[in-house]
Amino acid sequence: MDSQATRLIELFNLKKRDSAANSAKIVSIISGKGGTGKSFFALNFASQLAKRKKKILLIDFDYNFANLHLFLNKTVANPLSHFLLDRTTLKEIIEQYSENLDIIFGDSGFDNNIQMNEEKIERTFFNLEKLAVNYDYIILDSAAGGNELTLRQISFSNYNIIVTLPEPTSIMDAYVMLKYCAVNELKPINTVVVNKSESKEEGKTAFSNLNSAVTHFLSIDVKLLGLVSSSDLVTKSIKSQELLSKTAPTSQIISEISEIAERFIKFGQLANNNQRLISNLS
Ligand SMILES: Nc1ncnc2c1ncn2[C@@H]1O[C@H](COP(=O)(O)OP(=O)(O)OP(=O)(O)O)[C@@H](O)[C@H]1O
Ligand SMILES: [Mg+2]
Repeated sequence: MDSQATRLIELFNLKKRDSAANSAKIVSIISGKGGTGKSFFALNFASQLAKRKKKILLIDFDYNFANLHLFLNKTVANPLSHFLLDRTTLKEIIEQYSENLDIIFGDSGFDNNIQMNEEKIERTFFNLEKLAVNYDYIILDSAAGGNELTLRQISFSNYNIIVTLPEPTSIMDAYVMLKYCAVNELKPINTVVVNKSESKEEGKTAFSNLNSAVTHFLSIDVKLLGLVSSSDLVTKSIKSQELLSKTAPTSQIISEISEIAERFIKFGQLANNNQRLISNLS
């Protein structure tokens, strides 16, 4: 190959690397079983990242049991189902919720019960890729469990945030999710939030048990992003259909989620730098 052609290929690879580095990172918020607090966490986490000037697209990807619009008392004119049913583009259904926070809402599924399939998931991510340059993070509030569609979604994700409760049953469910990922050779960066911890000790012990099991049996890494306390303020904010940062801005639980957002940004920067280092060496 002549040197000009080699140079062109090098340039092309450099450009590809740069555009991947400048694109939004896709973050799947997942759990083994339902009800661990994924939707509550996804919304408040996204809002805390947006406060730190990160440009966020939050998507209610729990296509048949969407909830985020109810958390915010929103009537949704353009839900995700309209895109999935090919009635509109993804761009057209984005709502600006606040500065730096855009949301694609779902609907409650009465009119548009979606039969999700791999083709729809792939089309969604193909279209998300085009929007990714406008964002720092695209956050997907997902359905519980590890069926093949969730695994397909995870295959497009850069990060998993596994939201678990501290109980051994929930830790086991989180372990099973990680096992599905490992068995299917999915390699997003795996992080964990222990939600509804009664104390720091309880949350830390729960994470440590999960960490020992995945290190020992699956040989993969998981990182603790943080602990979120159990608090009545959460139920109150959901009942009043407002963000927790509006109903309880100075609460301990908001500072916990805020610290998690901070840690996540730092962790992302570190992971990016390492990736650049590795690709520069190769
Ligand atoms: N830190 C917390 N303290 C107290 N209650 C909480 C906390 N986090 C979540 N909850 C409560 O747990 C319930 C489930 O929360 P949420 O809907 O966010 O879970 P989910 O994982 O998204 O559920 P699903 O799997 O069904 O989508 C809600 O009633 C919420 O009020
Ligand atoms: Mg949910």
